Amino acid sequence: MQVILRVKRQAGPESRPYWQEFSCEAGPDSSVLSLLEEINSSSPLTDAAGAEALPIEFESGCRQMGCGACAMLIDGYPRLACATFLRQLKLKEGVITLAPLSKFPLLRDLHVDRGVLTEDVKRMKLWLNHDAVVDKKELPYAYQSASCLMCGCCAEICPNYQAGTAATGSAFTGAAVMNQAYRAASQYPPGKERRRLLKENVAAGQGHCSRTLSCLRVCPLELPLDYIISRGNHMYLKSLFERDKSHEK
Ligand code: SF4
Ligand code: SF4
Ligand code: FES
Repeated sequence: MQVILRVKRQAGPESRPYWQEFSCEAGPDSSVLSLLEEINSSSPLTDAAGAEALPIEFESGCRQMGCGACAMLIDGYPRLACATFLRQLKLKEGVITLAPLSKFPLLRDLHVDRGVLTEDVKRMKLWLNHDAVVDKKELPYAYQSASCLMCGCCAEICPNYQAGTAATGSAFTGAAVMNQAYRAASQYPPGKERRRLLKENVAAGQGHCSRTLSCLRVCPLELPLDYIISRGNHMYLKSLFERDKSHEK
């Protein structure tokens, strides 16, 4: 079948955005990413009106839901382009609308800079600097949480998330960063460092989260974000009464 890709384009952060339509042949099992690649590989590259067009800029890596690079708005919903197939979309008059994630700084076309997520992880030091302690109850959740793609779909849908880092004093780190905090905290021995990490997570994450759980609905990996978010507060409160075991053998 013939479909139209309606793409929001913008040459750079300061340029004026515009919409451009591209026509291509697709089947129910075509992914949105494969359509973008097909359009970019056509020579000459023309839009649906036959005018010459510049290649569409977007990010992709693994092409199999493993890197999170291809996150974008597909028909207004944050999704991975490589894991969104035509059969899953309600095509209105054969049109698919693509736009960049809106919560991150735009670089060009569908390509955004999601570096703020890793900046927050670095600033809050959300990693283990100690041998992991295995808590059997948390292990399955910690294991799942480790697969987070940092794709930013959860931040895009979150009513409370605005781009920026919590260093500004007003921003909220969002579910992706709370997920990283949970994983590190769930493997730390009781002690100052774990308490510090959990306290920062409550200040920059948990405390601003209104538990709407829209993030849970859009996460492409269906991570148990409801559990992960609620454990943050629980672990923090519990940590206030724990003995410091970080230096014990
Ligand atoms: S929690 Fe899910 S939606 Fe959010 S960044 Fe990780 S994989 Fe993406
Ligand atoms: S539960 Fe709601 S407020 Fe909290 S991170 Fe998810 S989408 Fe945002
Ligand atoms: S290209 Fe890696 S998740 Fe889509």
